[in-house]
Amino acid sequence: MLLSEYGKASSVPAPVSRMMAAFAADFRDAVDINLGVGYVNENTIPRARIEEALHAVLADPQKYRVALNYGGPAGSPNLIESVRRFHLEHRLGGLTDEVLRRNEIIIGPNGATSLLEGIAQVMAPGIVVTCDPMYYIYCNFLERMGFEICAVPEDKDGLDTDRLAVRLRELGERRKDICFFYVVTVSNPTCSILANTRRERLVEAAARLSRQLRRKVPVFFDKAYENLIHDPAVGRPVSGLLYDELGIVYEIGTLSKILAPALRIGYMIGPGGPLLRAMIQKTSDAGFSAPLVTQEIASYLLDRHVAEQIERVNAGYRHKAACTRQWIDARLGGALAECRGGSAGFYFYLTLAGIETHEQSAFFRFLARTTGRSEVDGPTGAKKPRVLYIPGEFCVHPQGDLVEAGRRQLRLSYGFEEPPRIEQAIELMSQAVSYAT
Ligand SMILES: Cc1ncc(COP(=O)(O)O)c(C=O)c1O
Repeated sequence: MLLSEYGKASSVPAPVSRMMAAFAADFRDAVDINLGVGYVNENTIPRARIEEALHAVLADPQKYRVALNYGGPAGSPNLIESVRRFHLEHRLGGLTDEVLRRNEIIIGPNGATSLLEGIAQVMAPGIVVTCDPMYYIYCNFLERMGFEICAVPEDKDGLDTDRLAVRLRELGERRKDICFFYVVTVSNPTCSILANTRRERLVEAAARLSRQLRRKVPVFFDKAYENLIHDPAVGRPVSGLLYDELGIVYEIGTLSKILAPALRIGYMIGPGGPLLRAMIQKTSDAGFSAPLVTQEIASYLLDRHVAEQIERVNAGYRHKAACTRQWIDARLGGALAECRGGSAGFYFYLTLAGIETHEQSAFFRFLARTTGRSEVDGPTGAKKPRVLYIPGEFCVHPQGDLVEAGRRQLRLSYGFEEPPRIEQAIELMSQAVSYAT
């Protein structure tokens, strides 16, 4: 078969997909512990509210027109209005009516992921500037689509804009190949929160580049976890849209983390124009629209229950973050060089001192029970509990500055599993440290 370059690149599973699939194939509930997946916690999903919303939507065909039919490609007008009000009433990102009136809101066909995919379809290929460690799922996709990733290291305040300035200078003539910036505001994998001054500097850097190149170089802020800043000590984030003078800033949000991933609702806010029109056409091409009925359910929930829901979700993650951090310090403290995260989202990103974490490492193999030693792994057919995490080597850019550090890093999710299992997993990690040393 004649596959496209993307088809060829995609016919080989990405390393993380391969690792996750291998683990999922014989995952034993209540035995193995999955700290690898980015799944939300099941207890945060408002099942009864979703059921209530479905009934209400179907019972009110005046407001929720043809909810089980095809929808329009820009998104349900009800949901777009609910997203707008949600931002205004909660002053999310400090967005005002005036800023929102300058911009448009569209709903993607299948969550934020589909909007990110759409961006890769409608933007001309070139260099994408992003953060290191990177959101490996999207960056891997961008590379399969023929984009080149320029990953700028973060510190605890997110993408380091001083290093960005240096990197842009180093690119020299190749700066003209930059097609867009992609920055996750609460990083996946590290959960570092992008500081407000950094947001402003990023927009300034893109505006400067746009002026130099005499074309708009957009910045896409992915705020997937921005409603999950659960640490009361952290100041409120400010939207990049507030700093936008040229019409180059776009925000991508999702309801996956605060309502339910299965609703598949992602939205984009940004200036109208050819890019947004192309994105709407792309939604139509991908599947006409997100399912109208889940858009209307989301609209109903945003209008009535979202404040209480966000509070509940964040109380749960706050508690889990605090417990997990204590267990990390108590059991892994001696082996820990650095720990990021804990204030937002549901990941910790650990750097171990001198202990490697990649798939071939003793640490990984102890936890995957693939050392080949039955006293460590347990007997075939009844292996001891396994623990899955995301090795740092998958999160850092293979040509970036963090390759060496990545071999000793890992992302640990406290989202999906319940606290006793997380505690058990961290205890097993401490045994893996002993085994590796
Ligand atoms: C940074 C980031 N962006 C986007 C998404 C995807 O969101 P959605 O469920 O809306 O596709 C995720 C999911 O984990 C994510 O981590």
